[in-house]
Amino acid sequence: MSLGLAIVGCGKMGRLIERLAPEYGFEVRAKFNRENNLHEAAVAPEALQGVDAAVEFTTPEAAPDNLRRLASLGVRAVCGTTGWYEQLPAVNESILAAGTGLVYSPNFSVGVNVFMQAVAHAACFFAKYPEYEAWGWEIHHSAKKDAPSGTLKKLAEEIRASGYSRTLTLTANRAGAHPGTHEIGFDSAADTITLRHTARSREGFARGALRAARWLAGKQGVFEFREILSELS
Ligand SMILES: NC(=O)c1ccc[n+]([C@@H]2O[C@H](COP(=O)([O-])OP(=O)(O)OC[C@H]3O[C@@H](n4cnc5c(N)ncnc54)[C@H](OP(=O)(O)O)[C@@H]3O)[C@@H](O)[C@H]2O)c1
Repeated sequence: MSLGLAIVGCGKMGRLIERLAPEYGFEVRAKFNRENNLHEAAVAPEALQGVDAAVEFTTPEAAPDNLRRLASLGVRAVCGTTGWYEQLPAVNESILAAGTGLVYSPNFSVGVNVFMQAVAHAACFFAKYPEYEAWGWEIHHSAKKDAPSGTLKKLAEEIRASGYSRTLTLTANRAGAHPGTHEIGFDSAADTITLRHTARSREGFARGALRAARWLAGKQGVFEFREILSELS
């Protein structure tokens, strides 16, 4: 039997998720966009009849209130919106108090999450060799609002957490329709090591978010996508 899905944010990601949802056993039963969800008010019980999970890809301004409202109505959520994580502790509290569930990530691509682990592993080695300095770079389409991206910030955090504490410069470009490339490099007088992930389309993000929504059924708590990766394969 299909599970009911609400799409919160009907932009590029929301439309793709709607198209792919049936492949993951979901029937889309509610859709919210900026127009019908002024001040997050439309996310209401009558609009969520038959909805088991919501996938939220909106804006950093809208996401925290959407997530709080979904939690208060008992709906589990997957959130791909980036740029709002300073509010994550408060949102976590709401999810835990409501006894629902949330999976969030700045990047729902399985490939990017494996790439992150490879970067962390490399950083752990280069931390011990002071002749190597590191950089991070990314490019996305010109409509992307946050720069550097949540993914590049997360990569930098992973590098730091792996023990690399020297200079790490981050730069971002915004141009055209590019779905997203992230690069981490280590450079010395002797050589350069470059690790790069290139997304070919948004489809990988949408599929990861739908897999997470399926996984979340019946679960309670707040999870980052990378923590549940091994349970999805
Ligand atoms: N985690 C990941 O893997 C991943 C991947 C891709 C993108 N992202 C992030 O996901 C977010 C959305 O990306 P996108 O490419 O889909 O952007 P987009 O095409 O601009 O779509 C955002 C949509 O959210 C709608 N919206 C704004 N406020 C809303 C509200 N209060 N309630 C419901 N909908 C609302 C907008 O409506 P209007 O059209 O009326 O303005 C728009 O349709 C961004 O933060 C982006 O960085 C994350």
